[in-house]
Amino acid sequence: MATTSLTSVSSTFLQTEFPLKRTKRHINRCSVSKCPFNPISVAPIKSSGSETADTTSLSPVPQNPLPETNKKLPLRKIPGDYGLPLVGPIKDRLDYFYNGGRDKFFRTRAHKYQSTVFRANMPPGPFISNNPNVIVLLDGKSFPVLFDTSKVEKRDLFTGTFMPSTELTGGYRILSYLDPSEPKHDQLKRFLFYLLTSRISHFIPEFHSSYAKLFDTLEKQLAKNGKASFAEANDQAAFNYLAKALYGVNPSETDLKNEAPKIITKWTLLQLSPILSLGLPKYIEEAVFHTFRLPPILVKKDYQRLYDFFYDAASGPVLEEAVRLGVSKEEAVHNLIFATCFNSFGGMKIFFPNMLKWIGRAGVNLHSKLAEEIRSAVKSNGGKVTMAAMEQMPLMKSVVYESFRIEPPVPLQYGKAKHDFVIENHENSFQVKEGEMLFGFQPFATKDPKIFDRPDEFVGERFIGEEGEKLLKHVLWSNGPETEQPTVSNKQCAGKDFVVLFSRLLVVEFFLRYDTFGIQVGKSPIGSAITFTSLKKATF
Ligand code: HEM
Repeated sequence: MATTSLTSVSSTFLQTEFPLKRTKRHINRCSVSKCPFNPISVAPIKSSGSETADTTSLSPVPQNPLPETNKKLPLRKIPGDYGLPLVGPIKDRLDYFYNGGRDKFFRTRAHKYQSTVFRANMPPGPFISNNPNVIVLLDGKSFPVLFDTSKVEKRDLFTGTFMPSTELTGGYRILSYLDPSEPKHDQLKRFLFYLLTSRISHFIPEFHSSYAKLFDTLEKQLAKNGKASFAEANDQAAFNYLAKALYGVNPSETDLKNEAPKIITKWTLLQLSPILSLGLPKYIEEAVFHTFRLPPILVKKDYQRLYDFFYDAASGPVLEEAVRLGVSKEEAVHNLIFATCFNSFGGMKIFFPNMLKWIGRAGVNLHSKLAEEIRSAVKSNGGKVTMAAMEQMPLMKSVVYESFRIEPPVPLQYGKAKHDFVIENHENSFQVKEGEMLFGFQPFATKDPKIFDRPDEFVGERFIGEEGEKLLKHVLWSNGPETEQPTVSNKQCAGKDFVVLFSRLLVVEFFLRYDTFGIQVGKSPIGSAITFTSLKKATF
């Protein structure tokens, strides 16, 4: 795993050549009117629980990985159709959200067409997206075409077949919406690499500080109520962590106080409501969220508070670097808001509960092994959590990768064909025409039974050892194989190494403090809602 981990410090950007300290805050704020707002070998661990029904792969019978062949596959017309205008897209939307849900939507169509590649409409459809027609990719072989920027354009499709109003991002098209062919993509991605590189020395200590407080809070709640919800405490800890780690600022000492999570949730809802189900009655959701856009004005004042916070927090070398790269301070701040609040905070909000769910359900056997491995590595590193110590935790690293594989936090990916080309699944080849929209449902691609043995099981040690590491190229959560790195010319997640680091840190800090834990799992619009029912303090 050495070549893929941040702990080897092999990445293109997470190196400490730009040591930085936060400087005094500038008071130069942008007012609303001035801003256009506008790898130990262990026995396999089988996860228990009903949730597997929700996330199962396409084949009920797992098969062994197939060897790659150069054999030409028979050309097949892409099966499926889009239905009548308006009617087809609305029917598909209702099926997707309400008639069995998302997994069933894809599974039934794959079964009907006997193909992991087919045509369908993706929400939102009328009247939000102009064209909801997509070619669905559900297997691990066809899916990676979405990473090939010589074949697909990634312009304005970060959220799918519609793009949220740029009024929600200060009037700017943010980096996540830019195609690498646009010069701004290079400048902005470089800018984020600079930010991450310059702050690397803060990533481990600040995580300990913010998440120790979260564990204190959970323990108090457990003592008082017999249970403790993870979501709210995680929201606070995540934002505080990001603010301190990336900018050296404690939000509670600023005008923003502890209100960022609430504001970000509202701001994110305005962007994603067309493609979310909030669990409200169908007719309300359809009328209010899925048919028309919510007006950006609803969050304008709140967004301004974020802007002021980030402008102050980033003033000094960070914004100076933006200007040096040819990005205005204003555009840089809107991009920092998006990278911190949408990409990072949003990622932690979805992935942390999901990972705790899978580890929680795996049971005490896995917990004990993790606790032993983590504590022993930390002990032999002078009692400190360091990058080097984490390199000596193969099970912990594998568990984090397995969590990303079994339930990728960003499940939907899009790319528009730049020209005519042929794509392949395991059985066929298919002709794609220029301008057609390709859509990959990642949870099925990373549970492809032709690639992964026991694809629907949470196998904690899956990625341990030489054979395990070979599978990492099929872990795709970052919009690219885990064995590759984000660059200015691809669309792989700019925060990939940071994300792997903070996800590992959650597991490390957790099992330094606790031997095992109990949870109840509920649903939330963006994933799992975790309630702790027990936290057993470390006994060794
Ligand atoms: C669990 C956390 C995260 C997940 C699951 C995640 C996932 C992703 C995915 C799937 C994409 C590609 C989307 C697409 O184009 O279809 C992406 C892009 C991106 N992510 Fe992340 N991300 C996370 C955290 C972060 C963090 C911490 C940062 C930055 C500090 C970040 C910055 C970005 C940026 C800037 C892009 C666009 C890259 C480009 O345009 O070349 N993400 N991320």
